[in-house]
Amino acid sequence: MPKKVLITGGAGFIGSHIVDKLFENIYSIVILDNFSSGSRGNLKYIDNIKLYNIDIEKADLDEIFKIEKPDYVIHLAAQTSVNYSITNSYFDADVNIMATIKLLDICEKYKIKKFITASSAAVYGNPKYLPIDEKHPTKPMSPYGLSKLTMEKYIQLSSIPYIIFRFSNAYGPRQKSSKESGVVAIFDKVMRENAPISIYGDGAQIRDFIYVKDIANICLKALKSDVKNEIINFSTNKGITINELFIEMSKIYNYKQSPNYLPERKGDIKDSVLLNKKAVEFFGDIEFTDIKSGLKQLRGCVCI
Ligand SMILES: NC(=O)c1ccc[n+]([C@@H]2O[C@H](COP(=O)([O-])OP(=O)(O)OC[C@H]3O[C@@H](n4cnc5c(N)ncnc54)[C@H](O)[C@@H]3O)[C@@H](O)[C@H]2O)c1
Repeated sequence: MPKKVLITGGAGFIGSHIVDKLFENIYSIVILDNFSSGSRGNLKYIDNIKLYNIDIEKADLDEIFKIEKPDYVIHLAAQTSVNYSITNSYFDADVNIMATIKLLDICEKYKIKKFITASSAAVYGNPKYLPIDEKHPTKPMSPYGLSKLTMEKYIQLSSIPYIIFRFSNAYGPRQKSSKESGVVAIFDKVMRENAPISIYGDGAQIRDFIYVKDIANICLKALKSDVKNEIINFSTNKGITINELFIEMSKIYNYKQSPNYLPERKGDIKDSVLLNKKAVEFFGDIEFTDIKSGLKQLRGCVCI
C-alpha cells in the first residue's frame, strides 16, 4: 500500500511541484486547498489525486482525517504576501497561525508520522551576518514573518515529529507573476511582454533564490528520512542582487529596457542569504539548480 500524504495548499506554486514529485514516487496524495491562489491547472495528475476544495480554517478537518487516514502531512496553505500581512495582519494570523494550530491538533489526534511545513527566511528579519544559519536571532519585520515564526513555535510544542523548512525565495514554473514575492515570475512576464520593469529600492538588495523543483526534491527526502524535530534552512546559499537578476534575465529574454527604481517597500528585508549547511548535512547529496540554468528552464514556461 502506498503511503498517504495529505498536502494543504497542494494546488499552489510550491505545493503542486511537491505533489508531482510525490506522485511520481508512488505516494498516495490528498490535497486540501481553497484555491485562493492555487489552481486546478497546476495539478498534472489531478485525476489520480483526492482533492478537497475547502478552507482549512473553516472545514471539519477531523472528518477528513477520519476518512483519509493520512500517514504524513505537508502543510503549505498560507497567506503568503508580506505586503498584504502589513495591512491585514488579523487575516494573516488567522490563516498562518490559527489554522496551523487547528491542523496540529488533528495531526496529534490521528498520530501523523511526520509533519513537514514551509516557514520562511522572513523569520530572521534584517540579518546580523550572512549567510544566515539556523541559530541566527529571529526578529521578523512583518506580520508574515511573525506569523511564520509563531507557527514554528506551536509545531515545536506539539508531540508530532516535524521538519520545518525555512525556504529562501522560490522561483520556477507555475509561480504567479501577480504576487509581490515572485520577482522572478514578475520579470519573466514583463520581459516576455517587453513591458517596463520597476524595481523597489536601489536593486542592490541581495536574495538567494531556490528552484521550486529542488524544494520538491528535499520534501521527498524529508519524508523518507529519519530526520525529525528540526528547523532547517533550504536555499542555494548563493546571493544575487536584484540588479544582477535583472541583467541575467535581460540577457536570456533579450530585454533591452532599463528598470524604473521605486522607493523600497515597508517590511522588505535588505539582504538575505540562507546557509544551507544543515540541509546538506542531514540530507546528503542535494542537487541545487544553478540560478542561470533555473532561469533558462523557466524561459518559455507560462506563469499566470
Ligand atoms: N514562494 C516562496 O518563495 C516561499 C518562500 C518561503 C516560504 N513559502 C511558504 O511556502 C508555502 C507555499 O507557498 P507558495 O509560494 O506555493 O504560495 P501559493 O499561494 O502558490 O500556495 C498556497 C496555497 O495554499 C492555498 N490556501 C491558502 N489559504 C488556504 C486556506 N485557508 N485553506 C486551504 N488552502 C489555502 C492556496 O490556494 C494555494 O494553493 C506557504 O506556506 C509560503 O508561506 C513560500
